[in-house]
Amino acid sequence: MNTKILILSSGLIMLSFLNSCYYDKADVLNDGFICDTTSYTYSGQIQPIISQYCISCHNATTPNGTVRLDNYDQVKMNADNGNLLGAIRHEAGYSNMPKNQPQLNPCNISLIEKWVADGSPNN
Ligand code: HEC
Repeated sequence: MNTKILILSSGLIMLSFLNSCYYDKADVLNDGFICDTTSYTYSGQIQPIISQYCISCHNATTPNGTVRLDNYDQVKMNADNGNLLGAIRHEAGYSNMPKNQPQLNPCNISLIEKWVADGSPNN
């Protein structure tokens, strides 16, 4: 193997290591707070995010867009049909959520993404 290829491939290996650490462990975001996505349970992380940012507009008395997020079954349904991630990631074809407010921070989005990828368990 010539030196150029060796340097290039070790660079790539180092890059992939760096990349695998991204958001996996405690990580400092731009605004200086620690992002820990090692734990992402419904009761521990997901439900608290939804109560802080979503529930005021998505409950039994105010189900905006006929979407309720005030109990596990409702959140699970919106996780399964893709609306939850579509809305918080601001994907084309979905309404951007939380409505008329800044997008959730990358840490909270990452927590929800991981929980959904895990099958959105009631844990
Ligand atoms: C200030 C009120 C408000 C807040 C806060 C809010 N929503 Fe909404 N949401 C709405 C309204 C109103 C709609 C109906 C569609 C529209 O008008 O954009 C909606 C629609 C939705 C939909 C259906 C989207 C679609 O494209 O079909 C989802 C899913 C949703 N919201 C999730 C959330 C989540 C998750 C949060 C918190 C991160 C949140 N919303 C916070 C008002 C709100």
